[in-house]
Amino acid sequence: MSAAMTFGSDNHAGMAPEVLTALAEANVGHASGYGDDRWTEQAENLLGNAFGDAAFALCLTGTGSNVVALSLALRGWESVLTAKGAHIDLDEAGAPEHIIGSKLETIATPDGRLTPELLDAALRAREQHHVVQRVVSITQSTECGTAYTPAAVQAIADWAHAHELLLHVDGARLCNAAATNRCGLGEVAPGADLISFGLTKNGAMGAEIVVAINPSLRAPIQNARKQATQLQSKMRFVAAQVTALLTDDRWLNHATHANAMALRLADGIGNAAGVSIIHPVEANAVFAVLPAARISALAEKHHFYIWDAPTNLARLMTAWDTSPAEVDQLVADIVAG
Ligand SMILES: Cc1ncc(COP(=O)(O)O)c(C=O)c1O
Repeated sequence: MSAAMTFGSDNHAGMAPEVLTALAEANVGHASGYGDDRWTEQAENLLGNAFGDAAFALCLTGTGSNVVALSLALRGWESVLTAKGAHIDLDEAGAPEHIIGSKLETIATPDGRLTPELLDAALRAREQHHVVQRVVSITQSTECGTAYTPAAVQAIADWAHAHELLLHVDGARLCNAAATNRCGLGEVAPGADLISFGLTKNGAMGAEIVVAINPSLRAPIQNARKQATQLQSKMRFVAAQVTALLTDDRWLNHATHANAMALRLADGIGNAAGVSIIHPVEANAVFAVLPAARISALAEKHHFYIWDAPTNLARLMTAWDTSPAEVDQLVADIVAG
């Protein structure tokens, strides 16, 4: 039996129907390339409504949008403070260090979230032998399935600015964090200077947007995108996805649904024998230690990743299209153990 591809990643989900429809509608006739088209104008208007006054650069991948965003803030002798295990640390093949030439300094966290106290401990005096600590990068929601409250993000922004650093937010799952916090996209990372805003995990095929909020970082955004190879010539197709998901709060419906499916899963397995959920479930991921003897049978039927083999820790992710029935089947199979 081949396992259903359900709980592996929100990246395993397909495109939302509205995105597919928008792509087909954009696929009529010719249009100018590189963003000089009405689809890009419409998408940037909607982004402006969501995030307020900012410069936007539509990109293709989350790694690319992180590189573009960070490149606006960093020079080679400057560094980024980020959580150990953050996507920029672990899952981007060293792209920020390689392309920008800046060092990443990682900080261990209990649940993916940085705090001013953790940052205090990592702060160094500025002197000529050290890299200059220039950016704090946090992930909202985090790689551990936790979400910062807006107040917690503001506290980090205040810390960063008080120490002459900037705040970058990797928002590959910003929609999930906004849904959890019941706030708008423009309110879920207050004080941020730069946001990498992701829609791919929300039902796009590939649409990730650099949001440059700090006015001093906005001017070179288009050049930075081009140099980081993220300028799509057929931009209307990226823009059409953005418009599809930002219209009628579809992003919110998708994120709310994915989050609800994660909570349903956590509620279902939380008290099961041999199961322990190690992080608060505040977005669309459940990190659960599973009974060792059950893992191979479960993996034959359901697709998920073992995050830490020695401790039998699994990452179970939900997506905009995960169905309650799929969740209930996984719960039943885990509980049956
Ligand atoms: C936190 C985070 N940032 C960024 C990304 C974007 O990655 P990609 O370059 O694969 O689009 C991901 C994707 O998994 C992610 O989880």
